[in-house]
Amino acid sequence: MSETAEKATLAVGGKQLDMPIKKGTIGPDVMDISSLYAQAKMFTFDPGFTSTASCESKITYIDGDEGVLLYRGYPIEQLAEHGDFIETCYLLLYGNLPNLAERKEFEDAITHHTMIHEQMSRFFSGFRRDAHPMAVMVGTVGALSAFYHDSTDINDPRQREIASRRMIAKLPTIAAMTYKYSIGQPFVYPRNDLSYASNFLHMCFAVPCEPYKVNPVLARAMDRIFTLHADHEQNASTSTVRLAGSSGANPFACIAAGIACLWGPAHGGANEAALEMLAEIGHVDNIPKYIAKAKDKNDPFRLMGFGHRVYKNYDPRAKIMQKTAHEVLQELGIKDDPLLDVAVELEQIALKDEYFVERKLYPNIDFYSGITLRALGFPTSMFTVLFALARTVGWIAQWREMIEDPNQRIGRPRQLYTGATQRDYMPMSRRGK
Ligand code: CMC
Repeated sequence: MSETAEKATLAVGGKQLDMPIKKGTIGPDVMDISSLYAQAKMFTFDPGFTSTASCESKITYIDGDEGVLLYRGYPIEQLAEHGDFIETCYLLLYGNLPNLAERKEFEDAITHHTMIHEQMSRFFSGFRRDAHPMAVMVGTVGALSAFYHDSTDINDPRQREIASRRMIAKLPTIAAMTYKYSIGQPFVYPRNDLSYASNFLHMCFAVPCEPYKVNPVLARAMDRIFTLHADHEQNASTSTVRLAGSSGANPFACIAAGIACLWGPAHGGANEAALEMLAEIGHVDNIPKYIAKAKDKNDPFRLMGFGHRVYKNYDPRAKIMQKTAHEVLQELGIKDDPLLDVAVELEQIALKDEYFVERKLYPNIDFYSGITLRALGFPTSMFTVLFALARTVGWIAQWREMIEDPNQRIGRPRQLYTGATQRDYMPMSRRGK
C-alpha cells in the first residue's frame, strides 16, 4: 500500500480535515480515516461495511463489476482449469505457485497429517445422529484446540505453520466423519495413496464390506469445487476469522468461528437453500410464480443462488461451476435431471427480467454447486460443510496475514448509539403491575 500525494478533504464542524488517500495495486483507492475520531470526535457509519476496507491484504482480489476473481494475481478460471487444490492452497498460504520440490514437500506434509487423534472419534458420539452436520463441524473443529494444544501459540511461527497444515489436512477427515456419523456408517480412515479430493470422496463413500474405486472425473470435479471456494477476500466468515484472531484467540477457535458464520443462509448456507428452492419450484411451469414471489417486497422469498454483495456481474465461479455440473451429470449418465432443467430455465428467465437486470442480480456459485454436489452423492445438509472444508485454507491464509502484520491490533468497531440516555434505577414497587 502506498500513500499518494492526494488528500481527501472533509469539512466537519467548521474544520477542514485532510485524510490521506492510499493506493493498492489494483482496485479502488481508500481514504484513511483512522485519525478522524482524534481530530473531529466523530465516527464513520457504514453498517454492512459496504464502503469500508477493514484491512490491507495481498491474497485475493475481486472486481465485482467485471466479474473477476484473482488468487494472488492468478485468475480463478486458470487455476480451476490448469491447477489443482493442493497448489491453490500453497499459493494462498505462501504467495506463489510451488515449484516441483515445494509442491512435493507440501503435498507430502498434508497427506501425512490427515489422521485425527483417535480420541476425537469418540468425541463425535456425544452428538445426536440427526444433528445438522454444520453443528458438528463447529464443535469438532473448535475441539481441535483441545487435542492439538501444542500448536496454539500464535506468537510462535512454527506453531502457526503446524496448526495451518494440520487444519488443511484434517478438515476433510472431520467433514467425512461428520457425514458418516449422520448416516450411521463406520468412519473410514484416510488413505495416503490417494489425492486430496480422491481421499475425501473415499472417506465419504467407501464402506468396509466392499472396495470403492474413486471415479477420476468426479474426483477432478470435487477438486475444482474446493479450488473455487478456497478464498473470497473479506466476506462475512473471513472477517469473522480475522476479528476472532485479532484478540489473540488460537487458530482452531478462529476457524470454528468462521464455520459458524458460514452456516448462515445468506452466506455458505445458500447452496443448500438454492437446491431446496429448485426442488420446491419442481417444474419449469412453476418458475413465473416464484419469480413473482422474489420480486414481491411483501414476500420474504428470494431467489437463492442469485445476487451477491460484490459481484454485480456474472460470478466467474458460477460459470466454471455450471460447466462442472454438466461434466458430472454426463459422467454419471444423468440425462434428465428435472432440477437442472429448472435451474437452466430459471437462469434464462431471471437474466432477462427487468427486476434482476436493474439490480444486477446474476447467478452466484451456489446456484450450480448444489446440483453438482447432489449428483456426487452428498445430501443437502453436507453442502455447507464442503464449503467450509474448502474455505479453511483461505481463512488460514487471511488469519496468518493478519497475525504477521506488525501493525495488527484488536478489531473494535464503534457504533452510533440510539438507545436510552442515562436514567436512574427504578425499584420494582414503582414500575407498575
Ligand atoms: N432475489 C430477489 N431479490 C434480491 C435477491 C434475490 N436473491 N438478492 C437481492 N435482491 C434485491 C433486494 O431485495 C434489493 O432490492 P431493492 O433494492 O428493491 O430493495 C436489491 O436486490 C439489493 O439487495 P441487497 O439485499 O441490498 O443486497 P446485499 O448485497 O445486501 O445482499 C445477498 C447480497 C447475497 C445476501 C443477496 O443477494 C441474497 O440474499 N441472495 C440470495 C442468497 C445467496 O444466494 N447467497 C449466496 C451468496 S454467494 C456465496 C458466498 O459468497 O457466500
